[in-house]
Amino acid sequence: MLKAAVIGAGLMGGGIAQTCAQAGFEVVNVDTYEPALSKARADIENLFNKKVAKGTMTEGQKQEILERIRYSTEMKDLREADIIIEAVPERMEIKKEIFRAADEAAKEGAVIVSNTSGLSISEMAAATKRPDKVMGIHFFYPAPVMKLAELIRGIATSEETYQTVREFAAAIGKEVVDCPELPGFIVNRILVPMMNEAAFLVMEGCRPEDVDTAMKLGANHPMGPLELCDFVGIDVMLATMTGLYNGFRDSKYRPCPILENMVKAGHLGRKSGQGFYSYNK
Ligand code: CAA
Repeated sequence: MLKAAVIGAGLMGGGIAQTCAQAGFEVVNVDTYEPALSKARADIENLFNKKVAKGTMTEGQKQEILERIRYSTEMKDLREADIIIEAVPERMEIKKEIFRAADEAAKEGAVIVSNTSGLSISEMAAATKRPDKVMGIHFFYPAPVMKLAELIRGIATSEETYQTVREFAAAIGKEVVDCPELPGFIVNRILVPMMNEAAFLVMEGCRPEDVDTAMKLGANHPMGPLELCDFVGIDVMLATMTGLYNGFRDSKYRPCPILENMVKAGHLGRKSGQGFYSYNK
């Protein structure tokens, strides 16, 4: 069985490591910032405790899955992994630095994939000496629950790498789609402008609860677009929208000023306690 590693212990990285462990894979979650690792571990434990209390997981299963996840602040612990998934913040300079370091630390033959939501895979691959073994796999939040993974090939990705990643995605329970190497891939290209448009409606005087109720009852969405903004994080949402705008240079992707003001004010959604709605932290 392949050994996995996840770089980055934020909401996505922690969730991807959990997904791998739940599917039976040994995984190491690496982050140079130790508090991020402690939080990732605590979040999974809290989630599993709720599942045990609800009866959807046994105490034994909880322990078994937790034991499959190791946490480390050292890139050298990527050495054992056959597949390394990068899930660090969406800034190309950070991604390239991580790809360079992962390439040095990883064993020969290991595949390195990015969970980017829209940055160029080919550019990240060019920071390594193994561009044929680099590609994109984009998960959705919350990673253990959402069924989709988008697969993105860079210009140098080999067929062998693609097949390895495709099989791995299936083994961790994901359905896959192939996406062009274009900003936003498929889901974010469609979903994020919709969330941005919902923010414009608020700017034009709509109440957030009316916008969300309208989309839940009028379009059967599980969450309204503004609830979803708070759920994924206003900062993530703004960065994704800005990525679309910078990528296509088309005014239809201009980020809503409300989102920019919220980020400046530190109103990042659920994680900060305040977004379009207020939350008890
Ligand atoms: N992490 C891990 N698991 C979670 C979770 C989380 N944050 N939240 C809920 N779950 C699990 C629960 O533990 C529960 O599992 P069990 O049945 O085993 O107990 C299961 O999910 C269902 O939980 P709930 O009954 O509490 O929740 P729900 O039925 O209200 O569904 C939801 C919650 C799945 C999140 C649903 O509201 C939903 O699908 N929302 C839309 C999410 C979405 O659109 N995500 C994509 C965001 S865009 C993106 O991610 C791309 C990007 O790059 C920005």
